[in-house]
Amino acid sequence: MTDLVVTEEKIIERILTMELVRVTERAAVSSARLRGRGDEKAADQAAVDAMRRELNRLPIHGRVVIGEGERDEAPMLFIGEEVGTKTGPAVDIAVDPLEGTTLCAKDMPGSIAVMAMAQAGTLLNAPDVYMDKIAIGPGYPKGVVDLDASPIENINALAKAKGVKPGEITVLILDRPRHADLISACRKAGAAVRLITDGDVAGVIFTTQPDATGVDLYLGTGGAPEGVLAAGALRCVGGQMQGRLILDSQAKIERAAKMGVKDPKKKYEMRELASGDVIVCATGVTDGALLQGVKFGKNVIETETIIYRSVTGTVRRIRAEHRELAKFKLD
Ligand code: FBP
Repeated sequence: MTDLVVTEEKIIERILTMELVRVTERAAVSSARLRGRGDEKAADQAAVDAMRRELNRLPIHGRVVIGEGERDEAPMLFIGEEVGTKTGPAVDIAVDPLEGTTLCAKDMPGSIAVMAMAQAGTLLNAPDVYMDKIAIGPGYPKGVVDLDASPIENINALAKAKGVKPGEITVLILDRPRHADLISACRKAGAAVRLITDGDVAGVIFTTQPDATGVDLYLGTGGAPEGVLAAGALRCVGGQMQGRLILDSQAKIERAAKMGVKDPKKKYEMRELASGDVIVCATGVTDGALLQGVKFGKNVIETETIIYRSVTGTVRRIRAEHRELAKFKLD
């Protein structure tokens, strides 16, 4: 059955969907002021400050489950931090205030401010480690691709399901030395490989609109927090995704265990990464294929935001003009 049968008390009040827009908008505007300055830390900090401030205005009992780091390494939006006015529903919060810090610092396409909110206890508490990921968009039979299958098997299966030749499949992969074998295996299978320098939340989301983006399949290893955020968005539009945490040292296994990960080798399905009623919201910082970046005019600042809500499968795009922000040069 679809999520639409979820009873009212089990879902997050829909008004909160709109409230999230303000949160990512302000994070995007603050970091966009630092686009192209070559200072990743400053741009990230600006996004963190703004996101935290706005989150603390929301009528929620929020708990950060994916944040800037663990309590001892991140002073703000650390994992476990409580946010909100503590007057509303208990929710999990996953944040990536500036996804693609390098893209922002270099004023390159694709950086976004992104967050997710879900019923308490329903987002995977993923430590900041790598995750092996595979994702495709909606409309395919369940299980057509699999994290444990080889690139050639996945490409052939996807091509068959799409009714095209493997040569008409495009795979999106982060351009990293660790992906050299993966890239050559995909090319050997006949597929085209599109490489991105950063930003695999958007990379996964690109698979949901292959006609517009040209991307059919996401493969490779990226951040685990980004994996949970992307899974939340994908759930809303009905794609498929699997992820496996890379816990390649005892210290990482113990860290993950403390966060509730019992099986360090577990292959997570999309619904295990983000299982409840989830809302994912992202605002463009720099221009990109998913979202336009922040535009600073003389009297107005413009933003573009996309919001996904799993319970209804609604995806909204909101273009906003901010006059007060422009007038007072607020963050
Ligand atoms: P940051 O914004 O934290 O720099 O993350 C950007 C990113 O490209 C993510 O989209 C991706 O999941 C991760 O980095 C990949 O990690 P790495 O750069 O270590 O390969």
